[in-house]
This record gives sequence, structure tokens and C-alpha cells, in this order.
Amino acid sequence: MENERDAETPKRNGRRRLVLFPLPFQGHINPMLQLANILHSNGFSITIIHTTFNFPNPSNHPHFTFVPISDGLSETEASNPDLIALLSVLNLKCVKPFEDCLAKLLADVSEEPITCLISDAILPFTRAVAERLKLPRIVLRTGGVSSFVVFAAYPILLEKGHIPIRDSRLEELVPELPPLRIKDLPVIKTSNPEALYEVVNSMVKETKASSGLIWNSFEELEQPALNALRQDFPIPIFPIGPFHKHFPTSSSSLIKEDQSSISWLNMQEPNSVIYVSFGSIAAIDKTEFLEIAWGLANSKRPFLWVVRPGLIRGSYWLEPLPNGFLENLEGRGHIVQWAPQQEVLCHPAVGAFWTHNGWNSTMESVCEGVPMICMPCFTDQLVNARYVSNVWRVGVQLENGLERGKIEKAIGRLMEDKEMRGRALQWKEKANLSLRQGGSSYQSLQCLISYISTF
Ligand code: UDX
Repeated sequence: MENERDAETPKRNGRRRLVLFPLPFQGHINPMLQLANILHSNGFSITIIHTTFNFPNPSNHPHFTFVPISDGLSETEASNPDLIALLSVLNLKCVKPFEDCLAKLLADVSEEPITCLISDAILPFTRAVAERLKLPRIVLRTGGVSSFVVFAAYPILLEKGHIPIRDSRLEELVPELPPLRIKDLPVIKTSNPEALYEVVNSMVKETKASSGLIWNSFEELEQPALNALRQDFPIPIFPIGPFHKHFPTSSSSLIKEDQSSISWLNMQEPNSVIYVSFGSIAAIDKTEFLEIAWGLANSKRPFLWVVRPGLIRGSYWLEPLPNGFLENLEGRGHIVQWAPQQEVLCHPAVGAFWTHNGWNSTMESVCEGVPMICMPCFTDQLVNARYVSNVWRVGVQLENGLERGKIEKAIGRLMEDKEMRGRALQWKEKANLSLRQGGSSYQSLQCLISYISTF
């Protein structure tokens, strides 16, 4: 546990300040800023320390103070497709600038006193910094609880030989972690597997050593995992999600959202559209891209597809699409570079979400009762997809390669499955209830606020 702040630290009346430090990726910035809004609406002043790499637009959040630090990343480092290498270098290069910045903020007596630091779990170096500065540190883990429990089991998975993953064992069940199969374990391709183990193990270790842990999830969705975590982690645990449903907030998108997504959806029939998006990091090959395109075209259903620049390896944007592809669909397909996803998912025209199962996308879909086609790419997405298809049973997983015929069938099956849609709507209701007065996330948030107030 981190040291408590000195007992004699003066606590003035009025608002108190929280310093938040997000990991600079879209799927981490969104939940951190949503959390900032939730805490701000509960009476705290918010300061966001951010890297110069991938930072949100401060003018969208005028009620927060943004303080940049120089991350010192070279252009090559910042554009490294090996995510693990990038995370490792961020965790090295940010230490000094972050510590200097936080020390300066703490010394500034003209502002409200700082109560605690809230940092992303994948910035484990912040534990030692907070300890040196005698500031309590709470961790926000932006992924799901169920996948975190698997990350926490990495030492066992290594010891039992389940990881590194061997192709001959992909379909085997992992006896220690039902219902996961070997192929659902949260790994990622990297040039240096040891660096992956280091990132995961230090995330888990320094989370355990924090003063508390916040989740963008709700008790009813992940109760078994939360119970397992409570056994193993002797710290207060606060599942207060879904964050984005507490109240509407301004966007923290790093890419401009294309509003034509909504005007196009407005012209479609209820529950008819497949929304397709693979988040902010995942990449696919040109062949996979074309199978997806033809699978969507052959499904004969309308689709809204986010093709982020950089999604297709080796292409800038839509160059691999055959000439006239969209025109031949006569308005049945709409492609954008980035969509206002939360708005899209609650649009009545959307009937299914073909997703990579990043945790934010998964939660956003669960909260709107939209069934999913799951195509996980790496790490927690693999676990999330298994839970969506096998535990919550609100999606089907595309497995064993992308092929247009299989895609067409999966789309048809999902769009026709009334029972699955019914279950999805039940989860939506549970998510809503958790936020109402007396609901699990509502109560957990009250506990979090009282807890922070004890610092
Ligand atoms: C990353 C990891 O890939 C994921 O596994 C982890 O759980 C979180 O960090 P990312 O790939 O970006 O996240 O996916 P996701 O977690 O789904 O976050 C994407 C966010 O961008 C969502 O909040 C989504 O609403 C938003 N988004 C996505 C848009 O606003 N518009 C889009 O067009 C696509």
C-alpha cells in the first residue's frame, strides 16, 4: 500500500483537486475523461496530466485543467506498431517528466490541495512516483474485470505451459479459467515476449499496491470476476460503470467524428444496420479487409463501416476496395473514417455491432442492448469476446479466419436471433438499473467519493 499523506497536510474547505493521468490511447483516454467528468460532478476539481503524444483537445473540456508533459518519444518510437515496445518505452521515458510535473503541482499553494492521483493501470511506474511524493494513488483499469483476472493469472499460465500459446492446443479449455480456451488467452504479437510478461506483471503488481481500484464495469455483469479479485486484492474495489451512461459528456475523440454516420442512419429501417468498427489500434491485412467488404456486401443488409486510416496494413485508406464497390450497393453501405460511436450504438436503426471487442466498445454495445459479431484481435479483446459469446450470450464469434461466406452467414444468424436480442436488452436494463439510486454502481460511486474524502 502507498503511504498515506502526512497527517499534518492542510485540508482547506471547498473543492479538492484530483490529478488524473491517462494512458495516451483512445481506449484509455475516453474512460479516464469520463471518470473525470463523474468526479467533477461530485465536487472535485480535475487536473489532467497528459503526454504530448496522443492528447485530447482541452477546449472540449474547459472545466478541467490540462498539464502537458514531454514524453520524449521519438517519431519512430511513437509510431512503433509493436504496442508492447511502445508501452515499455512510455513507462520509462515518462517517469521523470511526470514526477517533476506532479511535484510542481503539489507545491502550488495557489490551487486547491491535491487529494490523490488516479492513474491508468498500464502506467505502473506511477506507483513509485506517488509513494515518493506521499500522495495516495488510485488505479483506473480501463479493461474488464474478467480479463484482468486472467492477466493476474499470467504466472500460473506460464508455469502450466498455457502461454506462450502453441497452435496445436488452441481449442483446449484452460482448466483454471473456464470458459476460456487456450486461444482466448490475452496475448499479443510482440518482438519481445519477455517485455509482454513484464508489462502485464507490473500492471498487476502495482495495481495491487495501490490505494484502490476503479472499474468501468458493473457488479451484475462481472460478479464472479469481481469476487475472485476481492479475494486476491486487499484494496477497495469500485465498479462504477458504465461510465458513459452516468450523463452525456463532450467527446474525447482523437479523430474527428463524421456526423454523416447519423444522417445516414436516420434514413435506415429500425434494427436493420450492421455497425462495423475495430477500435483505435487493431489492424487487418488487405485480404481480410476484402473478405469483410464482400461479406458485408453479400449479406444484403445495410452497413455503417468505420475504416480508420491505418486500419489496413500497407494502405492509407480505401485503396484496396474495388472500383465502384460502394456505388454498386446503391446507398446500402456507408464508410467513414471515425464515427460518433456512442451515438451510433444508441441509434434505433442499428441492429448489430461487428466489433474487435475492445472493452469500451463491448460496454457501449452491452449498454445499448446491441448484439455483437465478435472479432477479437489481441489481449483483453480475446477474453471479452469469449464472455460476450459464451457467458453473457449476446454475440457470435467469428473464428478460424475471415471468409466472406462465413461472414454472410454469421450476419444473417445474428440479425435473425430474437432470443439473443432479448438477452441483450436484458443486459441493457441491468446496466441502467446499476446507475439508478440504490443500484450497484450508484452505491459503489458513493463509496468511492467517501473513500477519497478520507485522504
Ligand atoms: C484499446 C484496446 O484495443 C482494448 O483492447 C482495450 O480494452 C482498450 O484499449 P481500442 O482498440 O481503441 O482500445 O477499443 P475500445 O476499447 O473499444 O475503445 C475505442 C473507443 O473509441 C470507444 O470508446 C469508442 O466509442 C470510440 N470510437 C471507436 C469512436 O468514438 N468512434 C469510432 O469510429 C470508433
